[in-house]
Amino acid sequence: MPTDPPRPARPARLPRLVAHRGASGSAPENTLAAFRRAGALGASWVEFDVTLLGDGTPVIFHDATLDRTTDRTGPLNAIGRADLATIDAGLRFGPAFAGERIPTLAETLALLRDAGLSANIELKPHGASVETAAAVADALAGMAVPLPGITVSSFDHRSLAAFREHAPSVPVAPLFETPAPGWRETAAALRAEAVHVGRNAADAALVAAAHAAGLALRCYTVNDRAEAARRAAAAGGDAIFTDYPERFLGDPYWGASP
Ligand code: G3P
Ligand code: MG
Repeated sequence: MPTDPPRPARPARLPRLVAHRGASGSAPENTLAAFRRAGALGASWVEFDVTLLGDGTPVIFHDATLDRTTDRTGPLNAIGRADLATIDAGLRFGPAFAGERIPTLAETLALLRDAGLSANIELKPHGASVETAAAVADALAGMAVPLPGITVSSFDHRSLAAFREHAPSVPVAPLFETPAPGWRETAAALRAEAVHVGRNAADAALVAAAHAAGLALRCYTVNDRAEAARRAAAAGGDAIFTDYPERFLGDPYWGASP
């Protein structure tokens, strides 16, 4: 008798507020300092980007080059793990963060586990779709104590499909800046629990369509209080990603559990 394909544990039970790249409005994005700060502020979930160094080490980093956020320049895939200790990922944000490093995925998962934080891991493969997916699946499988909650997302739907093969029980969510025709089919093929979309696309009609398809809809990146209030009043999504969790944690809608 044929068996059903394994389904992800769903829903991922996210709160309405997720700290984007950590508390990246007040600490350098995608660093341990930003994750610690998110927890200290009271956020329970953080989003961050995972990519691979040239030697295959998965690290938390958004761009394909070091230029914007560190004291070095050049492609990230030209460095390896041993180089991380020589690169400053905090100074450009502010002198108080000098010495902050690009964290490895392993270091980050250990910190989140110890802090009791949950994670939206965004696969940012910069071309290495399958390898990045496998590295993240391996890291999660290697955790003796899992995080309280986890969901994995990506704009690279091929990478997300590869991740689903490696980790069929972990919830996933495809990312769309603006969902194109066929977004529901993409989500269904991935057996996704949610779609994550750009804030300009996340209107009430899209939220209703996502819900009708059995999907949560979360939108990035909302930093403005007035916009958040409009979204709360107009069914503007199940969750927001924000660089400033401190602006919304006291909010009766976004700061509350769904
Ligand atoms: O995961 C939500 C958001 O982070 C997607 O865009 O470019 O900030 O990674 P980006
Ligand atoms: Mg991201």
